[in-house]
Amino acid sequence: MRTRLTVSAAAGALALLLSVPASASAAAQAGPGAPGIGDPYYPTAGNGGYDVSHYDIRLKYQPATDDLEGTTTILATAGQDLTRFNLDFVLKVNEVLVNGRPAGFAATGEHELEITPARVIPKGSPITVVVRYADRPGTVLRGGVSGWLRTPDGGIAANEPEGAAWWYPSNDHPTDKATFDVSVLVPDGTQVISNGTSTQSSRAGWTRYNYRQTKPQATYLATVAIGKFDIRTDTTPGGLPVITAYSRDLGDNAGAAQASVERTGELVDWLSGRFGPYPFGTVGGYVPNVPTGYALETQGQIFYSPAQFARGANTSVVVHELAHQWYGDSVSVRRWSDIWLNEGFARYSQWLWSEHENEGTAQELADYVYNLYPADNVFWTIKPGDPGPDQQFAGAVYDRGAVAVQALRNAVGDEKFFRILKGWPTERRYGNATVQDFQAYAERISGKPLAELFNTWLFTPSKPAAGSAGVAAPGTAKPSLTPRAAADAQPEPKSWKKIQETNTVHEHKG
Ligand code: ARG
Ligand code: ZN
Repeated sequence: MRTRLTVSAAAGALALLLSVPASASAAAQAGPGAPGIGDPYYPTAGNGGYDVSHYDIRLKYQPATDDLEGTTTILATAGQDLTRFNLDFVLKVNEVLVNGRPAGFAATGEHELEITPARVIPKGSPITVVVRYADRPGTVLRGGVSGWLRTPDGGIAANEPEGAAWWYPSNDHPTDKATFDVSVLVPDGTQVISNGTSTQSSRAGWTRYNYRQTKPQATYLATVAIGKFDIRTDTTPGGLPVITAYSRDLGDNAGAAQASVERTGELVDWLSGRFGPYPFGTVGGYVPNVPTGYALETQGQIFYSPAQFARGANTSVVVHELAHQWYGDSVSVRRWSDIWLNEGFARYSQWLWSEHENEGTAQELADYVYNLYPADNVFWTIKPGDPGPDQQFAGAVYDRGAVAVQALRNAVGDEKFFRILKGWPTERRYGNATVQDFQAYAERISGKPLAELFNTWLFTPSKPAAGSAGVAAPGTAKPSLTPRAAADAQPEPKSWKKIQETNTVHEHKG
């Protein structure tokens, strides 16, 4: 599904210019779709040659053995005359049909499923792909890890940038959004969580859960969780359905997890005041029994980790993941290098929440980050505007990224700043955008040239001068030799530790 046409329209126009009349030599022009969609960080993420509009994912799962059987039906449109095309998938495939006919298929590369239809698919025509598969996803490793989180009572798919390939075949890149139906059959007594609204039915010892996401959704934001959960449903005062779920096995973390995630309705209303109307039809979150230290902004149904509530309730984490519903899920990255548009703003919304709760202002938090890391700390070598794939979730993308947002606020003033914060998700709703698109938007709304500010705070691999754009202005900057000395020099904002618990695994891949 392409809701924004900048890139594809340009490519289409170019293709038109270059093409001879389609009927003249369709066979000569027909070729395979590219094995990657053109992401600079992940060359084989996504695929070329087609565009998906809908996924229908039908699964049967046996928690005791991790046996997953699936049939996924993909509705797409050919972007070129296609002799062959790829999906991203790592599980064992038994059969592929394209437009009702058996197709050839082969697993290649890290996660490619190469499909050769019986006939060439003409550009512009619909494609229906049916993939039947069966595997134990927890045992399928890439780079030594599985994207499927096995739990004592089931399994979960929730990872970024890649997790989809462990439970359904897809065009795995945020630029190809689609609607989703997810239907999972599990033994009675086991529950299923996924995105959107749900129904369920039981027969002969098995229960089927059907979930439906009707708003455009990126592949990594689709989630499924199977296990023993207590599921609660409610509605916000505004009438938005709220679905929350807790593993029955959270032990000592259960109370703190509920005391945080049950605030979802209130917090989504508070964020709507800053970002505009909530973009999706349902909101909620689930806390499974997993040892992971991160949460994920899975669309309308957030994945949390119990570790985030190990030291008590943490509404800051909930604010972060809810903020992503606007900044990340509705407006998504064009390329993974645009990750600041997600993490910089989700972290900054925690600073706004801190400000609201009188636990430290955004300015105090920005100054604190500035003073915490001396100029020779690796922190300042990371460019939030282009951190590289190995540092995509480094702490600097979040914290320096949020300092950059505060710098913008200081440069344009509160009135323009909050206009930008609310206007952007409205203008770009359900689309994709780059950091450069955001800069252009902020310049348009503020009437100020911002190239230098963006360059300083997002694209320079060194510590900006104290006082630039009002961050650590004279009198607040403390010369420091070690993070500890700096922290001693300026009191830690009350909200600091809870904010940092958002993502305790800043794993550097490699
Ligand atoms: N987007 C997530 C968050 O900030 C972070 C996901 C990090 N991924 C990971 N595998 N650690 O909440
Ligand atoms: Zn985040």
